[in-house]
Amino acid sequence: SDPGLVERARAAKAKLGDKVFVLGHHYQRDEVIEFADVTGDSFKLARDAAARPDAEYIVFCGVHFMAESADILTSDAQQVVLPDLAAGCSMADMATAEQVAECWDVLTEAGVAEQVVPVSYMNSSADIKAFTGKHGGTICTSSNAKRALDWAFEQGDPSTGKVLFLPDQHLGRNTAVRDMGMSLDDCVVYNPHKPNGGLTADQLRAAKMILWRGHCSVHGRFSLESVEDVRARIPGVNVLVHPECKHEVVAAADYVGSTEYIIKALEAAPPGSKWAIGTELNLVRRLANRFAAEDKEIVFLDKTVCFCSTMNRIDLPHLVWALESLAEGKVVNRIQVDPETESFAKLALERMLALP
Ligand code: 13P
Ligand code: SF4
Repeated sequence: SDPGLVERARAAKAKLGDKVFVLGHHYQRDEVIEFADVTGDSFKLARDAAARPDAEYIVFCGVHFMAESADILTSDAQQVVLPDLAAGCSMADMATAEQVAECWDVLTEAGVAEQVVPVSYMNSSADIKAFTGKHGGTICTSSNAKRALDWAFEQGDPSTGKVLFLPDQHLGRNTAVRDMGMSLDDCVVYNPHKPNGGLTADQLRAAKMILWRGHCSVHGRFSLESVEDVRARIPGVNVLVHPECKHEVVAAADYVGSTEYIIKALEAAPPGSKWAIGTELNLVRRLANRFAAEDKEIVFLDKTVCFCSTMNRIDLPHLVWALESLAEGKVVNRIQVDPETESFAKLALERMLALP
C-alpha cells in the first residue's frame, strides 16, 4: 500500500492515542487490518467494542450493521465511525423493517405468532434487532447460533414452539439441521416478495423453523461442485466452510464454523495438512500467507467467488481520512442509532451476550 498513506495513518493514530479504538473484521483488507487494535468475528468485535468504555471514538472497519451494533453497545458519549458509509451488507438489506412487520402480521393471521420467538443474525439492521428485542427474541452470530436457538426453543412450549430466523436462511437451516437434529422438512422459507410469504397457514403451523429468504451474496456462491472439484484436485484436503454457505455445501464439508473458528482450526492444524476454505477472500489469502511458513497448504474453495465488495469499500484512503478528521476534532461518518430503536435492539443484543 501507498507508503505516504501508511505514514499518515500512523501519525493520526499516534496523535489520537487512547482516544481512538480501531476494530477490524476478519474480512477487511490487509492495509486496514494493519491499523486495527483488535480483529475478530462479529461476536468478538461486539464484545470488544463494549469493553472499551474509555475510548471516545470507535472506528469500525467492517460494515454498517456492525457499526450500528457497536453504537448500541457503547455509551452515548462514545462516537462510532464507519470510514465509508457505502459499506453496507447485501444480506442485511434483504430484511427491511416494513417487510418484517408484514411477516409478523402474516404469522398473527395464521394464529402462530404467539408460539414464535424471533432469532436474528447479527447481520441485520438495528431496526430488525429492535423488532427482535420487542418480540422477546435474541440476536445470534455464526459462532453462537446453536446456543441462541436452544435458548429460543426453551422460551416456548416444547411441542409447538417455533423460531422465526432472520435474515440468513442458510445459517438458520444449517444450524437447525446440522447442530440440532432437525430435518429439512422442519424448515420453511418465508419469501417477503410473495403474498403471505408464499406459505399457507398450515405450512406455518407445521414448521419449527421459519427461515427468512435472505442470503450472503459471497458465501451463497460456493457450490457443491466446488467441494467435489477441490477434493479431486487435492487428495486428502480438509474442506472448511462458513455456515452462511448453502446447506448442500455445508453437508459436503468436513468442518463448519465462523471466521474465528476457521482461524483457530488452522492454527491447530498439523504441518503438512491441506485445507480448502469457503469464506471471504481477504481472510483466506491472509491465512494462506500466514501459514505457508508452517507448511500448511491453504487454498480458496472456489476461484470464481470474489471479495465481499462492501467490506472492501473500507480501504486505507478512507481510514486515513477518518483518523485525520478525528485527530483534528472533526467527527465524520458517525453511526448513531435513534434512542427508541437502540433500547429494543440492546435488549436483543444483551440476551445474546448473556447466552451460556
Ligand atoms: P462472522 O465474522 O461472525 O463469522 O460473520 C461473517 C460475516 O459474513 C460478517 O459479515
Ligand atoms: Fe454481508 Fe456476506 Fe459481505 Fe458478510 S460477507 S458483509 S454477510 S455480504
